[in-house]
Amino acid sequence: MPVPSAADPEPRLPVPGGGAHPAVPPTERFAVRTAGMTASEIRALFAVASRPEVVSLAGGMPNLAALPLDALSIEVADLVARDGQVALQYGSAQGVPALREQICEVMRLEGINADPNDVVVTVGSQMALDLVTRIYCDPGDVVLAEGPSYVGALGSFAAYQARVVHVAMDAHGLIPEALRDALRTLGAEGITPKFLYTIPNFHNPAGVTLAVERRSEVLEICAEYGVAVIEDNPYGLLGFSGRIYPALRSMDPGVVYLGSFSKTFASGLRVGWALVPPAVRDRLVLAAESATLCPPSFNQMLVSRYLEGHDWRSQIKTFTEVYRDRRDALLSALETHLPEGCSWNIPDGGFYVWLTVPEGVDTKAMLPRAVTARVAYASGTGFYADGLGSRQLRLSYCYPTPERITEGVRRLATVLEAELDVMRTFGSPARLAPPPPAAGRGPQTPSPDTA
Ligand SMILES: Cc1ncc(COP(=O)(O)O)c(C=O)c1O
Repeated sequence: MPVPSAADPEPRLPVPGGGAHPAVPPTERFAVRTAGMTASEIRALFAVASRPEVVSLAGGMPNLAALPLDALSIEVADLVARDGQVALQYGSAQGVPALREQICEVMRLEGINADPNDVVVTVGSQMALDLVTRIYCDPGDVVLAEGPSYVGALGSFAAYQARVVHVAMDAHGLIPEALRDALRTLGAEGITPKFLYTIPNFHNPAGVTLAVERRSEVLEICAEYGVAVIEDNPYGLLGFSGRIYPALRSMDPGVVYLGSFSKTFASGLRVGWALVPPAVRDRLVLAAESATLCPPSFNQMLVSRYLEGHDWRSQIKTFTEVYRDRRDALLSALETHLPEGCSWNIPDGGFYVWLTVPEGVDTKAMLPRAVTARVAYASGTGFYADGLGSRQLRLSYCYPTPERITEGVRRLATVLEAELDVMRTFGSPARLAPPPPAAGRGPQTPSPDTA
């Protein structure tokens, strides 16, 4: 894809009669910003990983088999029959008012007291992420994000040419001292990041949750340095112990909060939202309008009916029970099959386990061999903007059955053993490097950044 840069102007060809025109075809004179748009490693792998013989532990697809599909099909038919003229029409750019009220009810579970006027419905929270980045970031602006971070957020930041500075996590989420250090270092260069992007609950991909004691500290540090906070919380209601953590937004009305029905109801409906301070709302609505005119009326009204007429709280409980069983299957398979030197966290909710493999194994290089062995995962480098993560990978337990998960881990263990065998036979960077810190096999809740 020929993409010009400021330092490298478009090559030009002479035209008859003088002058010049660009040497690339007219339809390929892309904006510089498209150079930052690359297919995520996960999407690039999707076609192969979704073959039925491959156990995919790569994608984060919710398990929709747990939904009451019969009841929903009646709801869909009734929506068309009774409210078709409205549901199939354009609507408000900010979203259906009744749904915005219900969204406030959902957020109340996390201690958030919100006004429906401050809610903007979006096409999934991915769109909210894109719009928020659009209204905050000029090319070259710095944003802070946990290391590792959600690949879709990194994609949006890259698309708007923002520079990501990662902040380390440990087993208790973002480390406040690391945040302070990053801000101090950037401050010394005269840089104030535009925002901190954080996923406090059941993190994607690290699986960890920000300790409650750290939450106010994180907010205080950001306030001290004049940095906005974007809280992305699609998994907050999917805790396995039933515990719901207080949202950062519940502690500070200045936080921009992103929510979604993708994990608690149906990802294909693409209904998410942003809760923003009033001063941000108008800009966000204008940005939303220029992106989509309005979010789909039909989908919003269906979600609204679902929240109104169905026991969505017990549906969420059903989801968490399914995911807890799958997490347990994954953890027990890891314990049984993985070789020495691997370590992983024990997530208390959400979809993901973050695995660190023995020194010298490169998870991105190993991926084609894993797929050949009919198991797929997401390699760690996709979750960093700075090339880290080659010793990590993400395993998603949300979609495959417990039996498939067990089989997938058995296959992964075989691939890992083969890598280690090659390293033992032919030597590897592991032999040349200083010995790693003593790492046994097993769940060690390591710092995803330092492990
Ligand atoms: C942390 C995080 N944020 C946002 C999203 C996007 O969700 P949605 O389906 O609402 O666009 C995801 C999806 O996996 C996610 O993991």
